[in-house]
Amino acid sequence: MLDKIKSLQEEINDFVSKNIDEIEQFRIKLLSKKGEIAALFTEFKNVPNEQKKEIGQKINLLKNSAFEKINSLKSQAQSKKSSSGVEDFTRPAESIPLGTRHPISIVRNEITEIFARLGFTTSTGPEIEDDWHVFSALNFPKEHPARDMQDTFFIEKDPDILLRTHTSSVQVRVMENQQPPIRTISPGRVFRNEAISARAHCIFHQVEGLYIDTDVSFADLKQALLYFAQEMFGKETKIRLRPSFFPFTEPSAEMDISCQLCGGKGCNVCKYTGWLEILGCGMVDPNVLESCNIDNEKYTGFAFGMGIERIAMLKYQVKDLRLYFENDVRFLRQFKSAY
Ligand code: DAH
Repeated sequence: MLDKIKSLQEEINDFVSKNIDEIEQFRIKLLSKKGEIAALFTEFKNVPNEQKKEIGQKINLLKNSAFEKINSLKSQAQSKKSSSGVEDFTRPAESIPLGTRHPISIVRNEITEIFARLGFTTSTGPEIEDDWHVFSALNFPKEHPARDMQDTFFIEKDPDILLRTHTSSVQVRVMENQQPPIRTISPGRVFRNEAISARAHCIFHQVEGLYIDTDVSFADLKQALLYFAQEMFGKETKIRLRPSFFPFTEPSAEMDISCQLCGGKGCNVCKYTGWLEILGCGMVDPNVLESCNIDNEKYTGFAFGMGIERIAMLKYQVKDLRLYFENDVRFLRQFKSAY
């Protein structure tokens, strides 16, 4: 039996072939159910007990070496085959289905691009924030309802760690780290504890804008926003500013654009008013500048904030917000864009 093992081992060592069929024949001869190594295992039953250990080990070694040899010859033969030039390199490539950008990304990129033309850089901040950056530095009074659990997702209490409810927190971070002139916009995700419906979601996207310098006036704000509205919705678009209130701006306003559907005549999209609300804005409150260590005697600034979903809904006439989050490709692939 030992001789048989030895001679098979030699046979394995000496075997060379580049031919897949020959290698397969060799495998069958040695390793198949009726192969020579299986025969050795059958014969093994008759080996006297005191030799079982030694012979058993030898047969196992033989089997392993046969496996290794055959596998390595096979993989060599296969790699030879694929680099031997038999492929047809002129064959047309298989077509790969192209994806499209998500409409929220398209609109975000377009907004970023429009403000970049006015010299605005892009800045980002964390989604998990603290009370200071989301509320306190932005002049929210201690008892303001937005600090309520009903509006805000809290992660920890004392100190308060929460999911940001608006991208205005990035204003604070930029001002803390940079002295004016500052001209930046901050797109990002925000979170509010709202029931999901066609018009509201607990996750959505905003773009915050901030411009701080000497002598920045409300007229500058109005001009920048008019430029934005006309670039985004067309040259015919008119804007209207209505007085409003935000803790972080004084004075504050909300901006409407003329309804692009009816051209201001009145339709069911604009609820027969001719106007559509698109953003909040105002002059940065001197208290906010002070919280961020910016000299509020020397500098003034404006800020604005808008929801990307809102802009996208108006631009694409999508009436149900949830479509933006379901990621149904039949919806998504309708959006094609240069942005
Ligand atoms: N942060 C406000 C919101 O989430 C939007 C906003 C309004 C941002 C006015 C501003 C602003 O910078 O000046 O509703």
